[in-house]
Amino acid sequence: MALKIGRGANAPPFLVMDVIAAANARQAALAPGAPGVLRLEVGQPGTGAPAGAVEAVQAALRSGDPLGYTEAFGRPGLRRRIARHYRDWYGLSVAPHRVAVTLGASGAFPLAFLAAFDRGDRVALTAPYYPPYLNILTALGIQPVILAAGPETRFQPSVGLLERLDPPPDGLIVASPCNPAGTMLHPDELAAIAAWCDANGVRLISDEIYHGLHYDSAIATAAAASPHAVVVNSFSKYFSMTGWRIGWLVLPEELVRPVECLAQNFFISAPHLAQIAAEAAFDCTDELQANVARYRRSRDFLLQALPQAGFARLSPAEGAFYLYADIGERSNDSIAFCADMLAEAGIAATPGVDFDADRGRRFVRFSYCGREADIRQAAERLRHWSRDRAISA
Ligand SMILES: Cc1ncc(COP(=O)(O)O)c(C=O)c1O
Repeated sequence: MALKIGRGANAPPFLVMDVIAAANARQAALAPGAPGVLRLEVGQPGTGAPAGAVEAVQAALRSGDPLGYTEAFGRPGLRRRIARHYRDWYGLSVAPHRVAVTLGASGAFPLAFLAAFDRGDRVALTAPYYPPYLNILTALGIQPVILAAGPETRFQPSVGLLERLDPPPDGLIVASPCNPAGTMLHPDELAAIAAWCDANGVRLISDEIYHGLHYDSAIATAAAASPHAVVVNSFSKYFSMTGWRIGWLVLPEELVRPVECLAQNFFISAPHLAQIAAEAAFDCTDELQANVARYRRSRDFLLQALPQAGFARLSPAEGAFYLYADIGERSNDSIAFCADMLAEAGIAATPGVDFDADRGRRFVRFSYCGREADIRQAAERLRHWSRDRAISA
């Protein structure tokens, strides 16, 4: 007898993982000494955790601390330190009891979505989007409502776009700086969206994982814009600690206890040792700012070099470490385009279909979090590749 398989088993793949596998396979198949694959598909810093975080972990291991479970919402010291971060970065007073330490931002999403929404609720997000938003909502039986956003709004939502939703949704997910476009909601825009959400009974979820990696305009936190907003953040990007799997939520008062109960049951706690590392990472500002300076140089370089390599229509990348290129004049099949680019130029990039099922066929995401020398070499290879393709076309 065939046994039932739950609807959660229908969650689609996160396609960038397939691109990573293809790039690994190509690298492994290269002859010794052949130029390697340049990795512009990955969305994680090439740098490891800052030195101070590693030292704190070494000291904890030497101390004989049994490193058992922590409270579900994390070590009190880390929660206080995260609360202080809001004062330091945004001038905002956040009570530590509203801070929940999670298993990365990824672990925060199901907690937030389950506490804030019911099955069948409608939650809006703009395309292009970070794919797990859509896939987690769907797995939980929550209905995603996709708003197509384009260069006119820097691929971000606007109150104008939201007003087209009738009736208003139950929730809205925003991300600034966002993945894949690297664009931002400026403080006045975020404030207007938060006010619209509050006026229309819409729960705002703000993914702020790329805060700290912003180059031109100021950042604002949704926690300052609405007492009902849920803020998601993580140590994966600015703090360069992807594999340590620590993120956090800043919760509105009414969701603190519901999320705590969910967290107790789902995860018990985030890894104790990684929480020690995360707390120490707040004191590693010089090292982390040096990473930001490197990303900024790579962004500035690519914004000038990619148009010369045939990628003229780029998102105005204000943050994160991504550029979203409209390749519509060259191809309407970004999957095939990226496969050719990998096979012929040895450059891995992510096809836009991961981020936008409808329009992603004419977009490619380039990530510039890798080594600066690789970024420069990639631009050079792309220039030759685009020229050779144009000649042979
Ligand atoms: C926009 C966005 N949110 C969340 C995540 C997940 O981050 P974490 O490593 O904290 O789970 C990522 C990872 O790339 C991301 O780009």
